[in-house]
Amino acid sequence: MKLIDGKAIAAQIKAEVRARAEKFFERHGKQPGLAVVLFGDDPASQIYVRNKIRACEETGVRSFTDYLPADVTERQAEEVVRALAEDEKVHGVLIQLPLPAHLDGKRLLSLIPPIKDVDGFSAENVGRLALGEAGTVACTPLGVMELLRRSNVSPEGKRAVVVGRSNIVGKPMAMLLLNANATVTVCHSRTADLKEECARADILIAAVGRPAFITADMVKEGAVVIDVGVNRTERGVCGDVDFGAVCEKASLITPVPGGVGPMTVAMLLQNTVAAAEAQEG
Ligand code: GUN
Repeated sequence: MKLIDGKAIAAQIKAEVRARAEKFFERHGKQPGLAVVLFGDDPASQIYVRNKIRACEETGVRSFTDYLPADVTERQAEEVVRALAEDEKVHGVLIQLPLPAHLDGKRLLSLIPPIKDVDGFSAENVGRLALGEAGTVACTPLGVMELLRRSNVSPEGKRAVVVGRSNIVGKPMAMLLLNANATVTVCHSRTADLKEECARADILIAAVGRPAFITADMVKEGAVVIDVGVNRTERGVCGDVDFGAVCEKASLITPVPGGVGPMTVAMLLQNTVAAAEAQEG
């Protein structure tokens, strides 16, 4: 078994992003700009937002942060997003999810122009991905593809199994793997014979959000195992994979923390610089 060091690969990508951001500054006299909007005081979201701001500082991207109270009105929330959509210093707008229950997330996200949609969540960008066209792709699945690429794992012709079908990870992950010529199976809570489906995977992606959900009996000898889970338990943060036991069978595996997580942030910065370049020409 070999560990995939997500932190080290993310550091490489951030160095590349920094070089692009510097070139952008020389050409346009301003930094690429990323606006992050956080509603309420969910501790996990606060940590994610702090990590994103820190990564902006590391890469020469200017960050703008709006902290809005959990009980903000729909109208106030819309005004903030609309202003960012129009702000020429801001090339990417990210609304940290999940949102307080009273806000209409679909409506708020629709106020972000697709060109500033650095999360790749808009119908336009999801449609482009489905069509295999250039567009912005959601950061976590994009980060997984980059981990595979930089670990010399080609999905072409491989059996890839994605466990989880969320709009943020599972669905775009499946489309990326399909576009890379893998044979893709998407499993979820209603899948019959989950164990057998998983055990056929050359590349197994776990994105279910349940600690130690993927056990060793679900993994083929020599499989590449990517753990997207971030589960907060009494014993600390752990992934969706029973890491200790699955290590024995996997040829390559990502740890949690230090696997996919740092890649999500690195890809966000890459998407932001790409959005800035597209907007400024
Ligand atoms: N919450 C958890 N993951 C994400 C993500 O990738 N983007 C946003 N905006 N919110 C999230």
